[in-house]
Amino acid sequence: MIELTAVNKYYQNGENKFQVLQDINLKIAAGEFLTIMGPSGAGKTSLINLIGFIDRSYLGSYKFNGQSYQTASDSALAHIRNQSVGFVFQNFKLIGNNTILENVELPLLYGGMTKKKAKPIVEQALERVGLPNSSQKIPNELSGGQQQRVAIARALVHRPKFIIADEPTGALDSKTSSEIMQIFKELNRTEQTTIVLVTHDPQVSQYGERLIKLLDGAIIADEEVKHRALL
Ligand SMILES: Nc1ncnc2c1ncn2[C@@H]1O[C@H](COP(=O)(O)OP(=O)(O)O)[C@@H](O)[C@H]1O
Ligand SMILES: [Mg+2]
Repeated sequence: MIELTAVNKYYQNGENKFQVLQDINLKIAAGEFLTIMGPSGAGKTSLINLIGFIDRSYLGSYKFNGQSYQTASDSALAHIRNQSVGFVFQNFKLIGNNTILENVELPLLYGGMTKKKAKPIVEQALERVGLPNSSQKIPNELSGGQQQRVAIARALVHRPKFIIADEPTGALDSKTSSEIMQIFKELNRTEQTTIVLVTHDPQVSQYGERLIKLLDGAIIADEEVKHRALL
């Protein structure tokens, strides 16, 4: 599904050129649960922004289902991104003044759906993440773990081909982290949703089936997770 071949990426800072990704060769099959680890500054976010069609200034080849979007127009890139990817972030990125319902329905409304049509899809997604009956609350009335559940529901409403989660448990305590990780694992297991997840936490890295380590923009390990956390 995802195939990067000899991908290199540079940031230009004034006179200086900084190489953030070095000769990345990476294949991710549909249905995989892949974890990316590496120290701060290793290039993890740069790599997933590229995979998630946020960024297309790189050298080398990225093919998604056999097709490259490197020269696609901005609107074509936004289209494939909205259709294919669900994003989950460390700090949830919910809109504070909006209700949970309004937060989760947003991607559907952007896609042109009516509120009436969106509502049952939103309710189903909230149920899926274990948050029924909370659609009229606002984010601040929920705990961090509950807010992350809302963000996952928002990522799911489009039925994405894959989910990119950038340190989704970084702001959560360890018990809440494992609850959130169970949701990802369950999505992967029951709906074969492909998951690409970045974490610093060795415990969190045990939920996936494959672990990649990045250092200074290069993949230094690509291994099977032997002792996956039990569901
Ligand atoms: N837009 C940018 N311009 C210049 N340098 C950047 C930019 N974004 C990230 N970097 C640099 O690239 C390196 C990798 O960043 P990033 O991909 O965010 O790493 P990680 O997510 O692993 O912490 C860092 O040293 C960062 O300072
Ligand atoms: Mg990062």
